Amino acid sequence: MAVTVRVAIVGCGAWAAEAHLPALRALPEVEVVACVDQDAEGSRRFAAAHGIPHSFGSAEDLLAAGLADAMTVAAPDDVHPSLVLAALAAGVPVFCEKPIANTAGVAEELVAAQERAGVAATVGYSFRYSPAMQQLRADLAGGLIGEPWLAELYEYNSQFHPRFGKAMNWKGDPDRAGAGALFEYGSHALDLAQWLIGPITRVSAQLSRVLPGSRLDDIATVQLDFAGPCSGVLISGWVLAGGVPGVRVRVHGSAGAAEAELGESLPGGERYQRLGLDGGPAEQVPLGEEAGGRSGYARRHLRDFLGQPGSQSPGTMPTLAQAASVQHVLDTAAKATERWLPVPGAGTQ
Ligand SMILES: NC(=O)c1ccc[n+]([C@@H]2O[C@H](COP(=O)([O-])OP(=O)(O)OC[C@H]3O[C@@H](n4cnc5c(N)ncnc54)[C@H](O)[C@@H]3O)[C@@H](O)[C@H]2O)c1
Repeated sequence: MAVTVRVAIVGCGAWAAEAHLPALRALPEVEVVACVDQDAEGSRRFAAAHGIPHSFGSAEDLLAAGLADAMTVAAPDDVHPSLVLAALAAGVPVFCEKPIANTAGVAEELVAAQERAGVAATVGYSFRYSPAMQQLRADLAGGLIGEPWLAELYEYNSQFHPRFGKAMNWKGDPDRAGAGALFEYGSHALDLAQWLIGPITRVSAQLSRVLPGSRLDDIATVQLDFAGPCSGVLISGWVLAGGVPGVRVRVHGSAGAAEAELGESLPGGERYQRLGLDGGPAEQVPLGEEAGGRSGYARRHLRDFLGQPGSQSPGTMPTLAQAASVQHVLDTAAKATERWLPVPGAGTQ
């Protein structure tokens, strides 16, 4: 007989409502038993609005109640480490949103703590579960692209574009986030790059602030060098027209080129195409499974993590160690902004 897994959601904000809750509710043998927010009243409201039986004002209270077999974390990045440590100490498997921490040093501490505790943990780099990204990985493994030579990585949307009037929140606060669009969006793209191609060994970056009063990057452009001959570029931003989630990865190699694109305006939410080297039309590759909206990636990720029935995706689940490796790339990129040479005659900045 199937045993129901009791899951609690920690952090009752936008992403919990848009992704974690619908993803968990789509898994038949999972029950969302509790929610937690440091704003206890907000937690109560979230529970009432979504029919969740229990609400708490802290993860400690949740864990002490012993109600949850697993927990998901959709709280701001600066509180990820303490929440993950609390779950590990209580022996509760934890799915934590990305980035796992605001520095690589803290991320490494979490990896060590997980090894000591021997408790399952994963990080919300869920775009790995996109059917288009799975196809790109299969094409790379199957030799259709050959040796990767160049990776173009994009993740951007316009959520903080002034046209929409959305106030900046903790994502743009240097006391709460390690960087701006680089950490919030670039982290996904860098995780995809390392999962698809391999370790990034060198970076250089430009972190641009374009919004009035910005204290962190609104647009980040990063040059990447991978182990082996492959190089790459990343553009991430939260003021750019790009759709949701606005992720695009194009890989050029010795045998061919291909592109995976994720965007809710695309039919089915995704596209995968093999590009013609001769400039001819691209081959559109049908994708077996639909993206499933913004909660679809988290749903497949949580299905694997919680051992739920359905097709699994071997080699896909992001580990804490892989998330720490992404954190090293992010930390390095945030510091690698100084190697600029002025163009003669063009003025200096
Ligand atoms: N995987 C993705 O594609 C994706 C997309 C959006 C956001 N995210 C991630 O999800 C997380 C949440 O983002 P959001 O946009 O929902 O933020 P948000 O600000 O809308 O919500 C965060 C919530 O966490 C609560 N909170 C703060 N500290 C807490 C604590 N110590 N314990 C419990 N709750 C606490 C806040 O009160 C708030 O309700 C971030 O890490 C973000 O990077 C991931």
